[in-house]
Amino acid sequence: MKHLLKLEDWSTEEITRTLNLADQLKYEQKHGIAHKLLEGKTLGMIFEKSSTRTRVSFEVGMTQLGGYPLFLSSNDLQIGRGEPVEDTARVLSRFVDAIMIRTFAQSEVEALAQYGSIPIINGLTDYCHPCQVLADLMTIRECKGKLEGLKMCFIGDGNNMLNSLAVGALKTGMSFSAACPDGYFPPEHIMEFGKQFGDKFEIVNDPMEAAKNADVIYTDVWASMGQEEEKKAREAVFAGVYQVNKALMAVTNDECMVLHCLPAHRGEEITAEVFEEHADEIFEEAENRLHAQKAVLVECLLDRKDAAAPDAVSRMS
Ligand code: CP
Ligand code: NVA
Repeated sequence: MKHLLKLEDWSTEEITRTLNLADQLKYEQKHGIAHKLLEGKTLGMIFEKSSTRTRVSFEVGMTQLGGYPLFLSSNDLQIGRGEPVEDTARVLSRFVDAIMIRTFAQSEVEALAQYGSIPIINGLTDYCHPCQVLADLMTIRECKGKLEGLKMCFIGDGNNMLNSLAVGALKTGMSFSAACPDGYFPPEHIMEFGKQFGDKFEIVNDPMEAAKNADVIYTDVWASMGQEEEKKAREAVFAGVYQVNKALMAVTNDECMVLHCLPAHRGEEITAEVFEEHADEIFEEAENRLHAQKAVLVECLLDRKDAAAPDAVSRMS
């Protein structure tokens, strides 16, 4: 059974294979080549937080793959009225072939995987956002032709994006630096993970220091979903310092990319000027959610080690 609960669980080979498949599916989509690899399969999509990109990429992606996406809002599910996730997992496992879930606690996603009997895909938790990072790595590889040896730098809150980016970047041979204010560093678990990579991993306070010689600058909102009440307090800490702007871009390598998972808050974590200058990259990144999420669905639902996998899939391995 293959899940995508967090990127730590996937090997470099699995990540690379998924990126290769995403490239192939993008090519097929653009050239009108049918790729209905998931005909007859149903994906349950549970959303306990808002979403534009994740919902639409999984819903459209599942449809393009010949499957059926079922949107399940926690406002309507009994989960929203307190039905345990352990029971929801066992019930949904009898109806659908996989679940994609966006929620708060990582432990809820892990519980779904523990109690269910179908693949579980993490569509964002407070801890991580692995699906987004696969699309990010795909975009960097498309633009730069490689990942190995490049430096990624994250500016801002030590949040779900930073956590998954650090793991994804380091596992694929990139260096990873970040600038976060005191009190907003990533969790100990990520610090420990990064330490295995020696000087390829660095978290500091100063954005200029972190961004030096970066090939990719990444940023995200100062207050994530679920942190709305902290918004003002966070602004006081981040404003004026933890921003991707012209001055920061001046210390990066030439041709440095700028990525943002979106939604973006112009004038806060990124200036409108830098955002628009890099809009082509940022919106290609958003589009790549579709192709990368389709690859994740095929990886998890077809379990490509399965001898009965159709030719169209084995061709891509
Ligand atoms: N980047 C991202 O996950 O976007 P949504 O919140 O719109 O899904
Ligand atoms: N850190 C953001 C990412 C949104 C895609 C959040 O969790 O709200």
